[in-house]
Amino acid sequence: MGIIFEQENQIFHLQTKNTSYIMKVVKNKYLSHVYWGRKILTPDVENAQLNRFIGFSAAADNEDQTYSLDFVCQEYPTGCSTDFRIPAISVLFEDGSRNTQLLYKDFQIIAGKPGLEGLPATYVEKDSDADTLMITLEDSLQKVKVILMYTVFRELDVITRSVQVVNESNARVVLEKVISANVDFETADYDFVSLPGAWGRERHIERTPLRSGVQSVESRRGASSHQNNPFIALAEKGADEARGSVYGFHFVYSGNFTAGVEVDQIFKSRAYIGLNDYDFSWLLESGEAFQAPEAVLVYSAEGFGGMSRIFHDLYRKHLVRGKFRDEPRPILVNNWEGTYFDFNEEKILDIAGEAAGLGIELFVLDDGWFGKRNSDTCSLGDWYVNTEKLPAGIGGLAEKINAYGMKFGLWFEPEMVSPDSDLYREHPDWCIHVPGRMRTECRNQLVLDLSRQEVCDYIVKAVSNILDTANIEYVKWDMNRHMTELGSAGLPAQRQKEMPHRYMLGLYQVLEQVVGSHPNVLFESCSGGGGRFDPGMLYYMPQTWTSDDTDAVERLLIQYGTSLAYPISTMGSHVSAVPNHQAGRVTSLKMRGDVAMSGNFGYELDLTKLSVEEKEIIRKQIVQYKDLRTFIQSGDMYRLASPFEGNHTAWMFRSKDGNNVFAAYFQTLSEVNPGIRRMKFTALEPDAVYEVLGEGKQYHGDELMEIGLVVDCYGDFQSQTWRLKKR
Ligand code: DGJ
Repeated sequence: MGIIFEQENQIFHLQTKNTSYIMKVVKNKYLSHVYWGRKILTPDVENAQLNRFIGFSAAADNEDQTYSLDFVCQEYPTGCSTDFRIPAISVLFEDGSRNTQLLYKDFQIIAGKPGLEGLPATYVEKDSDADTLMITLEDSLQKVKVILMYTVFRELDVITRSVQVVNESNARVVLEKVISANVDFETADYDFVSLPGAWGRERHIERTPLRSGVQSVESRRGASSHQNNPFIALAEKGADEARGSVYGFHFVYSGNFTAGVEVDQIFKSRAYIGLNDYDFSWLLESGEAFQAPEAVLVYSAEGFGGMSRIFHDLYRKHLVRGKFRDEPRPILVNNWEGTYFDFNEEKILDIAGEAAGLGIELFVLDDGWFGKRNSDTCSLGDWYVNTEKLPAGIGGLAEKINAYGMKFGLWFEPEMVSPDSDLYREHPDWCIHVPGRMRTECRNQLVLDLSRQEVCDYIVKAVSNILDTANIEYVKWDMNRHMTELGSAGLPAQRQKEMPHRYMLGLYQVLEQVVGSHPNVLFESCSGGGGRFDPGMLYYMPQTWTSDDTDAVERLLIQYGTSLAYPISTMGSHVSAVPNHQAGRVTSLKMRGDVAMSGNFGYELDLTKLSVEEKEIIRKQIVQYKDLRTFIQSGDMYRLASPFEGNHTAWMFRSKDGNNVFAAYFQTLSEVNPGIRRMKFTALEPDAVYEVLGEGKQYHGDELMEIGLVVDCYGDFQSQTWRLKKR
């Protein structure tokens, strides 16, 4: 296992537990891609790597008209040497040319996994957990080097990739495109899977067969976005939750990205993921290097479920950092939907008092505590407490909430500025803008220009000032608009297109400082719900507010889709009031609780307005979640019925040791005279005995898996759950 280099045949063979990834240096020193998939112990690479003439090809080597890069599977295509397909890189040289020819130069293998400076990336704690291969390709004419970095995880079927471009010439070059991972496949017999959406409807699963041409998803909004997620998968025809080959591609980045597949004239396909070249360029001075963010590649022969569980394990142990990585997350109540901006200390303490009595562990004060913010029209940037609303300040309020036996958490939106704010009046050029153009507002706010160091420094200071003066144990870091009129007052004309990526580097630097200097604070990222739910943010903040939409029915779709790539421990999931504020739907408190329990559980309503019966249900939900959360958050998830395919949704969580199981079944709309429905469990030990807690009944694993337990749901918006314990 690990990384093997076969000198004689010039083959790189990357092996994880169950997979092989093979490259070969071919004629004229091009680096070709040979294979990625289920492990092959002794590959005959000549058989795997074909060469054939296709009409109208250009020959990479004038001596041999059958040899064209348009046919050969490439590892990092430049598009300029007889390969007419989408390139991974585009470089503008000082003489105006773009022709780039990257040929194999050398390689290095090291134990462990180096970090990527200034960027989020997966990590290992012990060098023995991974090996890293660095292959250098070189354009000897233009003196530009490209270093392809591959890390192979020992215990997981994961390969991570990233790319560094080094300008070794005496001239400047401009990078116009740098993709982080390209994988060529010999056929197009796959379905393209992505997670598109919108605000309040994030990460719905779409699956379509590949067809000729390019199918892609991207963000041009300055954030990974609600509209698309930096994730795609290629699934073998017929692959389902448990069976079939699935290839997952994920980008560890929070800004503009592109991910797609090109199917060419002879039905080969080229998958890619990386920085979006839209509004991107990077001027590299002589001697400078550019580091592209990381791409995560996961292969599973066990369908989507297998792929997801690999992503979940990777992100829980090798992406999320800090003390909360391994700690059960607290049950919280957030006042946003309970009060919106209309609160004072008394109201907050009333809700917090109720919450404490019900067993809730953390109170989160949302938007509206600072400046003159009684609506969304002002004060972003003015991070000082509004003492008219909170006379004892944040410190005083935190103390009172702590006295109830609860932790205290606070909302910020540090990357934004309201035109009606002291900060904007003092620094009107600190926002992203183009001189002379209208500064388009969105939710009455502008985006601060985090490509400028002084702006980053201001944010670190403003947030730290509050965090350091009160006992704040949780922060919700929000971001509520996308970028328009891209421009920075801090950059020269030829670097204006660097702003969106420089913004992300600035944000990552701010987060590293704020989060790093507050190791005991649990950070949750948010962007109007799940508008920046990406692996980049998870490197800094272990959980994300999954969606502003808390309607239980819509949440089935959102949470099911999100779980394709993200672990349950990263998903904030709350019970809110009915009629639901986003969807207008009325669902039972039981169903709302059961859906929210399949995530980081909490409440988002005015608890003082609940009836005695409702409070009793909530009290029980909290006791139930405290029993479940360790293994819901850290165990294995199995999706059993998809809300994208019908009226029923089901999923199950099993602790890593196999002793504890929680399964939930949801019926969206009532069915009259329905057929018999059963919850068929999976991944149990066939001959072990499991007790269904609360029912006092015991069954063998094989019966639970093959016959299952009868589902008894009657009416619209119903749910049923089972808690099993292995005896
Ligand atoms: C958007 C978030 O998603 C909500 O949860 C809430 O925090 C509001 N912002 C506050 O303005």
